[in-house]
Amino acid sequence: MSIKYETAEDVLNMLEEPNFDARREYFRHKNTLLFHGDILNNQLFDKEFIDLIVTSPPYNVGIDYNSNNDELSYEQYLEFSEKWMQNCFNWSKTQARFCLNIPLDKNKGGHRSVGADLTKIAQKVGWKYKTTIIWNEGNISRRTAWGSWKSASSPVVIAPVELIVVLFKDEWKKTNGSKISDVTGDEFKDWTQGVWVFNGESKKRIGHPAPFPKELPYRCIKLFSYQNDLIFDPFVGSGTTLLVAQNLDRKAIGTDIDCTYCELAKNRILQETGSIIFSENGK
Ligand SMILES: C[S@@+](CC[C@H](N)C(=O)[O-])C[C@H]1O[C@@H](n2cnc3c(N)ncnc32)[C@H](O)[C@@H]1O
Repeated sequence: MSIKYETAEDVLNMLEEPNFDARREYFRHKNTLLFHGDILNNQLFDKEFIDLIVTSPPYNVGIDYNSNNDELSYEQYLEFSEKWMQNCFNWSKTQARFCLNIPLDKNKGGHRSVGADLTKIAQKVGWKYKTTIIWNEGNISRRTAWGSWKSASSPVVIAPVELIVVLFKDEWKKTNGSKISDVTGDEFKDWTQGVWVFNGESKKRIGHPAPFPKELPYRCIKLFSYQNDLIFDPFVGSGTTLLVAQNLDRKAIGTDIDCTYCELAKNRILQETGSIIFSENGK
């Protein structure tokens, strides 16, 4: 039997239950909970509690993440993706939404349509497809691979964009929750145009190898959730989704497999929640 969390109190009560070994609470602050755990472990949670997932999984491009092997074979990477998406599906409420930030293509070590493949896997797991937002990163590093320069023999085309695939569990229309939206008219008009243009985040400034900018969860959370909804990030990293969710009066839960990143996320959340954040466009 599945039990649903409906209120902040329910979620916090979850922590009073006898813990599984794997479910290690790392940090709690206001309505934010961070677990040090492996999202592949299907026993991490046993209930449907998620209203919105905003996440960016490892891209399998050989990034040094401490605890996670980011150089699986492509087949292994697809299996990994299916497992974590299935777990998140099982822990999501009927009207849950899923914003999945992934690359369009993989160009190193063979060309792969990662965006298309992961979107297909999400649907295989049960997620329903809504739309895809193209994120055009203004400050993406300059390209070097041309293939055959000025020749048709073997040119390489690289689009300097990432995707935010938007999916949902059973019903797109939200009838549950606080029904309090905080997206303004200008934001709604801008963000429902499916090409988003804002800069990526600096790895050095944040101290994590692949952070996304606050603008990404900021837009997703305001556009796709109500105040007091529960936002989940299975791959917390430096904690961007959690701290933005907290600042937008949502509840936030996340997991990361690496305790160095849990510590980084904890410090960022402590430092940056409570402060007012603005959209990059100043709206
Ligand atoms: C692309 S980063 C997420 C960055 C995050 N969006 C931010 O803004 O900092 C992916 C994160 O997933 C974590 N990770 C990798 N495998 C994991 C797993 N099996 N379970 C939980 N976390 C995992 C890594 O430690 C890394 O911090």
